[in-house]
Amino acid sequence: MKVDVLLGLQWGDEGKGKIVDVLAPKYDVVARFQGGPNAGHTLEFDGKKVVLHQIPSGIFRAHTRNVIGNGVVLDPIVLQAEIRKLAAHGVDAHRNLFISKKATIIVPTHRLLDLAQEKAKGVDKIGSTLKGIGPSYQDKIGRQGLRVGDVLSPHFQERFKKLTDAHFEILKGHPEISYDWPELSAQFLEAITFLRTLQLIDSEYFLNRELQAGSSILAEGAQGSLLDIDFGSYPFVTSSSTVTAGACTGLGVAPRHIGEVYGIFKAYSTRVGSGPFPTELIDEDGERMRREGNEFGSTTGRPRRCGWIDLPALKYSIMINGVTQLLMMKADVLSIFPDIKVCTHYRLSDGQMTESVPYEYAHQQITAIYTELPGWKCDIRNMKADAVPTELANYIQFLERELRVPITLISTGPDRLQTIYRN
Ligand code: GDP
Ligand code: IMO
Ligand code: MG
Repeated sequence: MKVDVLLGLQWGDEGKGKIVDVLAPKYDVVARFQGGPNAGHTLEFDGKKVVLHQIPSGIFRAHTRNVIGNGVVLDPIVLQAEIRKLAAHGVDAHRNLFISKKATIIVPTHRLLDLAQEKAKGVDKIGSTLKGIGPSYQDKIGRQGLRVGDVLSPHFQERFKKLTDAHFEILKGHPEISYDWPELSAQFLEAITFLRTLQLIDSEYFLNRELQAGSSILAEGAQGSLLDIDFGSYPFVTSSSTVTAGACTGLGVAPRHIGEVYGIFKAYSTRVGSGPFPTELIDEDGERMRREGNEFGSTTGRPRRCGWIDLPALKYSIMINGVTQLLMMKADVLSIFPDIKVCTHYRLSDGQMTESVPYEYAHQQITAIYTELPGWKCDIRNMKADAVPTELANYIQFLERELRVPITLISTGPDRLQTIYRN
């Protein structure tokens, strides 16, 4: 069997959580490969709504085992709270959650450093979720991070102190950041005690053995390709590899084991935080899109910036990821518009037209050039596969022609059941 990968092609929040939950019954294992509690993946079913931050979105499927891979940064406090919430839904994470010993631990000072770094940037701030993502990946790459396997060492407390002492030195330069360390560290150490009760594993061996035994594996991405550390709109990005290649390094599976790459996108675009967004609507239409799509961050509650679909950006993401199937989300939100705009090109500040994402993406004025398609102007939320309005069918065909990848699934609402498969 192969490892299929599901990842966001835009700036995150495409609906990865919903679709991983929908696809999970087909998979023996679901594995998160990067990111951390900056993610907010929403699942809706049986009248319930759950937002997952650290735990893979296959957790509600009884026969699916869920792995937090080595590429993830893990906040034990967030994890403990999330596991408690799952218990209230009758899910026992002690049974079907496995955590890589090589995943990096987020300590409370990482969150403080995140805040300090953002404050220091002033108007150029990234708009970080302030979950400690940047600083924890900095420590990982700087070879001084704590890893999940370290919690089993008798020297864990010492190592924790050494790392946080280094952070306190930096925080001395930021007297504006106040905190109650006895409280924060007590909370952290309690969560570490809890972490020790979970299944901590050598996840690269676990996953490769599963592959050899014929199990099917779905790798779940967090964030989106336009937030990728290398290929995103740098510096307005997250600190991990959100692309297909990140699934290999974030799980320890070889490139030849990658199978389908599901690229998920909204029928429009959203972005939360700072950075370029050529198709952004800063008018009444943008407000309506936000209201209709309930576009408020699943992790921070911040209003998401909204705009039309951006084909140059999507083509770029499809190229980097080797997408084999496209999944289109939230088409129902566009039902309110009589006409739908699609950005096909950019005009750069020197007047040149392009279909490519330019290097100076974040630092020049880019004008989106649109074509317009008629809208479907009807409620499609509970639509069946054989009742797709002509205008929506045309929109899908137009996108398939432009993007040269089949759209095999359309989502028409947040619930598991509001999903249409296309052959
Ligand atoms: P993720 O981070 O990619 O998992 O996405 P989020 O959960 O942050 O954001 C997607 C939001 O859209 C959530 O509130 C979902 O419940 C919701 N959603 C998912 N699919 C659809 C859809 O097809 N239509 C509508 N209206 N909402 C959807
Ligand atoms: P999911 O998995 C949308 C954005 C932040 C900020 C930038 C860097 O739910 O799609 P970070 O905290 O990572 O240092 O923030 O990335 N961001 C997300 N935007 N969805 C996410 O995750 C995001 N995770 C981070 O808003 O602009
Ligand atoms: Mg989200």
